[in-house]
Amino acid sequence: MKKMERLDKILSHMGYGSRKDVKKIIKDGRVEINGETIDKNDYKIDPYNDRIKLDGEEIFYREYIYIMMNKPKGVVSSTDDPINRTVLELLEEEYLFFNPFPAGRLDKDTEGLLILTNDGKLAHELLSPKKGVDKTYYVEVEGYVEEEHMEKLDKGIILDDGYKTLPAKLEIIESNFISKVKLTIKEGKFHQVKRMFQALNMEVVYLKRISMGPIKLDERLRLGEYRELMEEEIKLLKEKS
Ligand code: URA
Repeated sequence: MKKMERLDKILSHMGYGSRKDVKKIIKDGRVEINGETIDKNDYKIDPYNDRIKLDGEEIFYREYIYIMMNKPKGVVSSTDDPINRTVLELLEEEYLFFNPFPAGRLDKDTEGLLILTNDGKLAHELLSPKKGVDKTYYVEVEGYVEEEHMEKLDKGIILDDGYKTLPAKLEIIESNFISKVKLTIKEGKFHQVKRMFQALNMEVVYLKRISMGPIKLDERLRLGEYRELMEEEIKLLKEKS
């Protein structure tokens, strides 16, 4: 079924400015719908099927956006915070029009992969405990990590609140005063990775998420940088969740 929407609403959703900005764009005669210049804000269009041109260039409507960010330390992964800088403040305005939110949290001092989207259904599936989507972290931890820790994490360990974790996979990269490991968990409890190592009497000194389900952090992204997910990545994400 065709869903008709106001032209100014659609252009604003697409990131071409606030309602006020796009009204001016439309009034200035810069928009064509199916080959005809339209200067009425409330003109109704079918955003998926009508041909929309801005300044002579065809543009394509989308409802959802999917962003991968390499979250830096010092910012919080919530949409609003009275004290701290949020990950949303790192996004350019054209993305904020879509009202994205982080699909899952990372602590203020954790770095790495954060997916931001306005697709509530996908975010829900990604985070649902029932789906148990794998999340892999690169972790630096004080003390020697050994085989015995691998076995304990695989069996499930008891956290400080008595909760027994699901089996987690540990890969030891380097065992040393500060060990380097990768840990894959299927859950997302509050401070989970830090608390899992605490339960082994070890303290996490550096934490970075490197993958979430089929999505791997693009190592070309520097801290605080982001990019939209590619079609292929979105497809994988939808298949797996
Ligand atoms: N586990 C933690 O302890 N912190 C995070 O940010 C993510 C997982």
